[in-house]
Amino acid sequence: RRHLLTCEGLSANEINFVLDLADKAADHIRQNGKKRDVLAGRTLINLFFESSTRTQASFEMAGKRLGADVMNMNVATSSVTKGETLIDTAVTLNAMRPDIIVVRHHAAGAVELLSQKVDCSVINAGDGAHQHPTQALLDALTIRRAKGRVAGLTVAICGDILHSRVARSNIDVLNALGARVRLVAPSTLLPSSPERLGVEVFTDMWKGIDGVDVVMMLRLQRERMDASYVPSSREFFHFFGLDHEKLARAKPDALVMHPGPMNRGVEIASTVADHSRSVIREQVEMGVAVRMAVLEALSAHLPSFKDVA
Ligand code: CP
Repeated sequence: RRHLLTCEGLSANEINFVLDLADKAADHIRQNGKKRDVLAGRTLINLFFESSTRTQASFEMAGKRLGADVMNMNVATSSVTKGETLIDTAVTLNAMRPDIIVVRHHAAGAVELLSQKVDCSVINAGDGAHQHPTQALLDALTIRRAKGRVAGLTVAICGDILHSRVARSNIDVLNALGARVRLVAPSTLLPSSPERLGVEVFTDMWKGIDGVDVVMMLRLQRERMDASYVPSSREFFHFFGLDHEKLARAKPDALVMHPGPMNRGVEIASTVADHSRSVIREQVEMGVAVRMAVLEALSAHLPSFKDVA
């Protein structure tokens, strides 16, 4: 593959190939390993039309650890503010001959459209409520490192599923790896016909996380909601917030995950987020390793310097 746009259709072999590379990268970083030169002489552009802390910083760090020159486009001060379109922006950057563009955009499908207009590799860093492939891969790596496997585990994805690209990518990856996936949400925050996604659906959180191996919490994505439709934080926390009482329904060694950013006291109690069962910081750590692995995997498809000389 030249691009990473979606997790839909990724095979277990493809996913495990990336996770194996990421596992090695994570160990290399933990042992204070030196920068590598897999992407020496290559240029990576981070083009984020939506805000980000984890994804943008970790792509920058991953690119630099692999020897790439990394450029962070500041969209807020770019000519986008003068009305330049996504495609014109991308074509303009493409003319500068980058090797990889990492894109986040608020519109579902925008990153795939952009990939059709440029010559370089494109990585989807989140497009609307559609997909966030590297998040699902880092989540799978975190689970695999903590539990030794993904196949056969039951993972409850809880909260605002309707607006979540993280949920969609995780459903694809977890199903491909043989996990059992549950969606736990109020019916107003579920997509239509969720069973078609190959998941079990629960509108009662107490039942939804009963006996699970992993509880993955999602924040309310208010920026994607109709104003008349936004649930109150207090009510949401009462019924769907992860506190110690609800967590006691999961297996005693269940992992607590959250892709971030977290809204403490809304979808997750602060003490649960900081509990020893929480692997939220490990998820961030694995983010750098997975992004290194994805860049390394895509590097095999970049034209060689000899080819373009
Ligand atoms: N999980 C995630 O995508 O976080 P950021 O929005 O901070 O990148």
